[in-house]
Amino acid sequence: MTITEFKTACETLQQEYQTKISAAQSASEVEDLRVASLGRKGALTDLLKSLKDFSIEDKKTAGPLGNALKAALTAALDEKQSFFATKELNEELNKTEIDLTLPGEPVACGHRHPLSVAQDRMTEILSQLGFEWAEGPWVEDEKHNFDLLNIPLHHPARDAQDTFFVDGKMPLVLRTHTSNVQSRYMEKHKPPLRIMAPGRVFRNDSLDATHSPVFHQIEGLYVDKNVSMADLKSDLTAFMKGLFGDKAEIRFRPSFFPFTEPSVEVDVKCVFCQGKGCNVCKGSGWIEMLGAGVVHPNVLKNCGIDPEQFSGYAFGMGVERLAMMMLNIKDIRTFYENDLRILKQF
Ligand code: PHE
Repeated sequence: MTITEFKTACETLQQEYQTKISAAQSASEVEDLRVASLGRKGALTDLLKSLKDFSIEDKKTAGPLGNALKAALTAALDEKQSFFATKELNEELNKTEIDLTLPGEPVACGHRHPLSVAQDRMTEILSQLGFEWAEGPWVEDEKHNFDLLNIPLHHPARDAQDTFFVDGKMPLVLRTHTSNVQSRYMEKHKPPLRIMAPGRVFRNDSLDATHSPVFHQIEGLYVDKNVSMADLKSDLTAFMKGLFGDKAEIRFRPSFFPFTEPSVEVDVKCVFCQGKGCNVCKGSGWIEMLGAGVVHPNVLKNCGIDPEQFSGYAFGMGVERLAMMMLNIKDIRTFYENDLRILKQF
C-alpha cells in the first residue's frame, strides 16, 4: 500500500463509519460499530497494520493521520452512546410515572407550644437570678396546700367552689396553687433557699376568655437572713425587665394572702400602650401580674424554720396571663384548644 492509498483508505473508512454511526438505532448497535472499527480485529486496527511496511518518512505522515482518525471515530461513538444513555434513562423515568418536576410534599415540622415557650423564657430569667428548680405533686393533701400555709380551716379559699376534692373525699385536693411547693420544700430544706416552682394548678372555675379550671403558675420563694420587701421589689423588677425589656416598670398594691404579711399585688406598666391606657389594660395603664409578699412568720414556723432568725419573700404568677401579654393573645382558651391554624402563628 502506498501512502496515497493509505490516505484514501483513511478517508473512506471515516466516511463509512461516520454514516453508520449517525444511522445507528440503539446503544448496542453503537457498541457493535465500536468493535467493528476500533476493536482488535476492527477495520481501523487492520488499516494501521499496514503502517509497518512504510518508510520512516511515510510513517511520519501516516501515523498522525491514523491517530486523528481513531480520535474522530471514538468521539463520534461516545457522543452517540451518551445520546442513547440519556434517552434510555428518560424512557425508564416515563415508565415509572414519577414526575420529578413536581414540588415535594412539605414536611410538617412542629414546634413548642406557646405556653411552654413562655414558661421556659420565665424560668430561664429566674434561673439567671439564682432560683433553683423545684416541683411538687398535683394531687396534694390539705396540710401542704392549706394548713402549713396558714390558711385556716374555714377560709373561703378552701371552699368547694374553688377547690377540686379528689373523690369528693377530704383530705386530698388538686392543688389550688403552686404554693404547696413552698411548704414541701421548706420542710425538707433549710435556708438559705431560693426556688422557682412552675407547674399546673386547678380551680373549680368555668372556662371563659380569662379563666380556666386548669392553668399554670410559677412560684418563687427566697428565704435567708434579712430578706425583705426591698429584695422582692428589686428581683421582680429585674425579672420583668428580662421579660419585657429595659423599659418595664412595676408597682406594688397592698393585698392579702394568708401566707404572706405584708402582701402585695404586682402590676406591670402596660407593654402595649406604655402606661397611656389602652383596651388591653382597660385604660388603667397597668396590668395585674402576680401575687407576692413577705413570708408569714407562721408559715416559716409551721415548716420548721425559725422566723426570728430568717425571713423570706414569695410570689406566685400565672403563666397564662404573662404569656397572653407576651404573645398578645386575648383568649386563654387559645392555649388549650390546640387549633393548629392558631398554634402555627407562634
Ligand atoms: N398562691 C397565690 C395565688 O395562687 C399567689 C401567691 C404566691 C401570693 C406566693 C403570695 C405569695 O393566688
